[in-house]
Amino acid sequence: MKALVCTAFGLPETLTFKEVDEPVISSNQVLIQVEACGVNFPDVLIIQNKYQFKPELPFSPGGEVCGVIEKVGDAVKHVKPGDRVVALCGWGGFAEKVAAAANRVFKIPPAITPVQGATTLYTYGTAYHALKDRAQLQLNETLLVLGAAGGVGLAAVELGKLMGARVIAAASSAEKLLACRDQGADDVIDYSKEDLRARLKEITNDKGVDVVFDPVGGKLAEPAFRSIAWKGRYLVVGFASGEIQQLPANLPLLKGASIVGVFWGSFSEREPHQNQQNIQRLMEWMLTGKIKQHIHQVYPLQQSAQALRDLMERKVIGKAVVTV
Ligand SMILES: NC(=O)c1ccc[n+]([C@@H]2O[C@H](COP(=O)([O-])OP(=O)(O)OC[C@H]3O[C@@H](n4cnc5c(N)ncnc54)[C@H](OP(=O)(O)O)[C@@H]3O)[C@@H](O)[C@H]2O)c1
Repeated sequence: MKALVCTAFGLPETLTFKEVDEPVISSNQVLIQVEACGVNFPDVLIIQNKYQFKPELPFSPGGEVCGVIEKVGDAVKHVKPGDRVVALCGWGGFAEKVAAAANRVFKIPPAITPVQGATTLYTYGTAYHALKDRAQLQLNETLLVLGAAGGVGLAAVELGKLMGARVIAAASSAEKLLACRDQGADDVIDYSKEDLRARLKEITNDKGVDVVFDPVGGKLAEPAFRSIAWKGRYLVVGFASGEIQQLPANLPLLKGASIVGVFWGSFSEREPHQNQQNIQRLMEWMLTGKIKQHIHQVYPLQQSAQALRDLMERKVIGKAVVTV
């Protein structure tokens, strides 16, 4: 089969597109013919050996696929060959076939397209878990989303609106903020030009925001946290800026506020039943058109390294996806 292969850790340009052997599955795995593979920030980290999971070389990146089951291991009962599924495979998805652990494979209705399927679990799964289970976002609360035009950011904007919040989207360009408006953002802030704290004061009439959704970290974190309302919740989602923020401990004290960690991958393993319910709800919303992923670009498998490069350079708005 054909695949994009990482033979030595490095930047996207070091990846090679070539013929490799098909994966061999164990009794708890399934073999999936990949139709599409979502492009996510961890793919950029994993090829540089900077992610928490470190696959053995050589491997293919690509952690989230939609496809058709070709084979199942002896112990697998809930899916069978021919089923259309989405799967969180960790890596291996930028290839014609991938092996995935059966407990991370979910059957999907026929109406869901490969591109929709491959771009939903990771971003919406994370954003929904963060807003519903971790922040317990309430109707009419104010939600600030940083990196709001990125994959998880834009999903948080859309879900925040669906959950009845007033959403303030913050990102680095006018084009990105336009996409946030399209997904329902009530107010927008361009943090490449505007003072985040001053604008938040103005927009919220000095009250502050109830929930901060932060997948970026770095320099934006402290002004965002200082702008939080009484009993606010600051969601630590990721560090796309490359810098892990240090927040002074007096800030949560002064606001009766909480710093809340979000780790969707771990949640999905530790609380599979709750995660399954969340996924079910997201699938329903997708089928009824209540959520609709913004697709930046669809890349053919041969060009999947370019998709990673574009993500690294902050060019992607919403999701990039690779089709096979
Ligand atoms: N905790 C969890 O369970 C979980 C789950 C999924 C993802 N994550 C994490 O969430 C973060 C975002 O993931 P994603 O898939 O949404 O990524 P993405 O689509 O690339 O979005 C990240 C956003 O961060 C901003 N950014 C600021 N500095 C950046 C830099 N130096 N390089 C790249 N982007 C930068 C960009 O927006 P602007 O240009 O507008 O600033 C970009 O749109 C990652 O750290 C990822 O690992 C965590």
